[in-house]
Parts: sequence; structure tokens; C-alpha cells
Amino acid sequence: MNIKTICNENLSSQHNSNQLRLVRSEPPALPDAETARVAVIGLGYVGLPLICGFSKNSRSIGFDVNKEKVNELSNGIDHTGEVTAAELLSADAMFTTDPAELEQADVIVVCVPTPVNARNQPDYSALLSASRMIGQNMKKGSVVVFESTVDPGTTEERCLPIIEEVSGFRESVDFYLGYSPERINPGDPTRKLTDIKKIVAGTTPYVTEFLVDLYSRVVEAGLFPAANIKVAEAAKILENTQRDVNIALMNQMMTLYDKMGIRATDVIAAASSKWNFHHYRPGLVGGHCIAVDPYYLIDAGRRHGLPMDLIVAARATNEATPYFMVEKLEEMFEQNQTSIQNKRILVLGRTFKEDCPDTRNSKTFKMMDYLWTRGAEVFNFDPIAEDDHFEGGRGTTFIGDPLDAGEFDAIIVTLSHSVFYEQFDLPTLESLTKRKAPLIDMRGMFDCEAVEDHFNYWRP
Ligand SMILES: NC(=O)c1ccc[n+]([C@@H]2O[C@H](COP(=O)([O-])OP(=O)(O)OC[C@H]3O[C@@H](n4cnc5c(N)ncnc54)[C@H](O)[C@@H]3O)[C@@H](O)[C@H]2O)c1
Repeated sequence: MNIKTICNENLSSQHNSNQLRLVRSEPPALPDAETARVAVIGLGYVGLPLICGFSKNSRSIGFDVNKEKVNELSNGIDHTGEVTAAELLSADAMFTTDPAELEQADVIVVCVPTPVNARNQPDYSALLSASRMIGQNMKKGSVVVFESTVDPGTTEERCLPIIEEVSGFRESVDFYLGYSPERINPGDPTRKLTDIKKIVAGTTPYVTEFLVDLYSRVVEAGLFPAANIKVAEAAKILENTQRDVNIALMNQMMTLYDKMGIRATDVIAAASSKWNFHHYRPGLVGGHCIAVDPYYLIDAGRRHGLPMDLIVAARATNEATPYFMVEKLEEMFEQNQTSIQNKRILVLGRTFKEDCPDTRNSKTFKMMDYLWTRGAEVFNFDPIAEDDHFEGGRGTTFIGDPLDAGEFDAIIVTLSHSVFYEQFDLPTLESLTKRKAPLIDMRGMFDCEAVEDHFNYWRP
């Protein structure tokens, strides 16, 4: 079906000499998916790869409220590590803080943050303000696509009414609406935007089909047309919540196995030998997605009178993991007939996940705060952390080289950046502490037998 030729028949009413007369109005044709000029709102981990991809066919517009970011991007500087400087500089894109530029766009893609507030309630402020801005600046005939992770219903029930009210336009009459959740995996060089199948959904099958064609410009792995926008929204949030719940199970089992004197990593390795065992590992769950999106579902459940017990319990379990790690360390000091008081603790890693520079909502900060309140002197080293948001870490000293910071009394390795394997071979690691110093290795980076010679070693 050629989507460009499709026009829905719409009936609108008009008064004429006190008589209600029905007249036929034709909505604008959908843009040409191949050449449509795309504007991306929100140039972060999600928006940036998109704008680089879309700019290959036509000059794109990148809008962000952050002036510093826009200046940096215009100069080829990106702190997310998701695109290279060469890709950025060669992209046929203009970066701007001027919302009026959105009028030039055939398609507007929204990639703004959807975090939670201090009470873990959904914070839609960026999404709603972006919707208002779109309403003020969009042209007739454009297609608005939301990519931000939301609770099902948000795009049509919260964003759309704002766009319609502000613009005076009507969806499917003057413009079109779609949703396509982003599934990128920051820090993973093997799964980039183009390698991940993308879900798309529009308000009508024609819009969905348009989105399939549009996103084929940037995604090679294929498109999945979802039944409707709400299904597409729900699919994304389910993916992340499933991950949170499964990691919570591993974190809970880690605490039980520890009491039993066995290692969760050994148990998982053995259980993984069965074809249908799902491989998840214990650890800190932070970041902008997995540790946030389940709260959107918890809030949705509340509105529908459902307590969402499993998700609530999973969140609580994962939020307790930083405390478990500190208590484990205290126990290890006790085994050495000493306490954590005034001990110099080196924490390796502070980003929320391996090989990703993002520190947003990293639970390492929570763990370091707790170490500090227990009387320890905390030092942190993370050569990957670049897009740094210091959320906590009170009393922590951030160091540029652990080999240059004096001797430590214990080490906690929170995650296994690839670069740590190069930087910390066993002799280097051993040189950082005296013998029998506690070493907590959350990712099982080190061979148990080899390190146990020098360290009081623990891993899940
Ligand atoms: N990071 C991920 O791995 C990932 C993966 C899948 C989905 N998502 C979802 O995608 C969305 C964006 O996430 P992200 O990681 O790219 O966020 P980000 O913080 O990296 O980038 C968001 C950008 O939006 C800008 N912004 C904020 N408010 C704005 C506004 N009102 N108008 C215009 N720009 C605004 C910010 O300055 C920032 O540059 C979120 O809903 C997130 O849950 C993220």
C-alpha cells in the first residue's frame, strides 16, 4: 500500500444558515518516509544515535533545552559515547535550542527523559513540556513520534491532548501520532540502534506503516508493528520491569546462598547449564531505565487499584543491595578482628553499568554514602565515568589513579568495565592493600583461588 496516497476521509461539521451540514475534509498526506525531515527533541543516549541515523537521508534538526550540550554537539563533542565524533561531525544535522526550528520538520521524534521524583513517582514534566512546545511549533501534516519510556496510555491520554490544545490541530486530521520505544543498550558495542528490532505503532494502520518505512532508514534489524500505541508503550516497560524482577530474584538468592556458605555465581553457572534457565546475575540496579520504569507500572497499578506486589518487592530488594554489600564488608572486617571504622575503602566503578559512562541513578553512590555513614573513608575510581551526575557520594574522594592514592584497607569492585581487566591484573590489585584485606568482587572478575592467597575474598 502506498501510504503517501492514503487520505482518511474525515467528516467535520459546519454551520450554515442554522443548518448543520456535513462536509468532507481531507487530512494532509503523510510525508515521504524516505526523505522526511526529522527533528529529534532531547539529544541524549536515545536521541543522538537517532538524529545521526536520520540525517543520512535528509538534513535533520536536533533540539535540546541544554545550551551547553547543543554547543558541544555542534562541535562534534558527545559525552554519551553512543556516537563517534566523526559520525557527529559528518551528520547532516543542525543542533539548536530554538523551538521555532521544529516548524521545518516533517517528523518530530521525542526522546526526553522520563525519570521519577524523590518519592519514586513518575515525573512527566519534560514530556509534557515537550508536548506543549510541539503544539506551539509544529506544522500541519507532520508526524509526532514519542520514544520516551512511559506508562501505557500516556502518549494518547496525556501528550496528545496538550499538542491538540496548544496547536489547535487535530490528530489524524491535521497531524499524525505514533510511538516507538527505544531499546538501545548503552555501553554495548554489539547492539546499537541499527541492530535492535524496533517496535512501532501509530494511531491508524497507515501511520504504523509510515513508521515502519521511516524507521527502516535507521534500523537494519527490522521493525515490529505493534497492535496499537498502548501495546507498544506497555511492551517497552514490560521489558525493563521483567529485567528488574529477575535481577531482584538473583539479589535475594545471593543473600540466602551467602548464609548457606555457597556462591550465587557458582549456583548460576551450574543452573545455566539447563537450556531454559534465564541467566541473570546479582548486582546493583541503577540507571535511567531498569531502576526507574517499574515505578511507572507501580503508579499505573495504583490508579487501577492493583498493588503490583511483585514489582514493589523487586524494587525494594534491588534497592537493598547496596546495604547488603556494606554489611558484607563489615562482616569481613569482623572476620579480620577489626571494624570498618576509619578504614580506607577503594570502590572500583561508579557508572550504573559496565562500559557505559552514565552515572545517573547509580546505586554505587548509595553504597558509598552508606560506607561513609558507617565510618569508612571512601575512595572511588572509575575511568569510564564521563557523563557524571554526582547523586550522593557524600564524603567520597574521587581519585584519578588508585596506585597513587596510598594503601587501602579493602576493595569493592562494583562492576567489571573492560578496562579494569587491563588495569588490574592480580599483582597490581595486590599492591593496593595489605594481605587479608577484604575484597568484594560483585561481578566475579577475579579467579577465586588466585586472589584468596592475598585477599579475604568474597563474591556473590
Ligand atoms: N538511556 C537508555 O538506555 C534508554 C534506553 C531506552 C529508552 N530510554 C528512554 O528514552 C528516554 C530518553 O532517555 P535518555 O537516556 O536519552 O535521556 P538523556 O538524559 O540522555 O537525554 C535526554 C535529553 O533531553 C533533554 N531534555 C530534557 N528536557 C527536555 C525538554 N523539555 N525539551 C527538550 N529536550 C529536553 C536533556 O537536556 C537531555 O539532553 C527516556 O524516557 C528513557 O527512559 C532510555
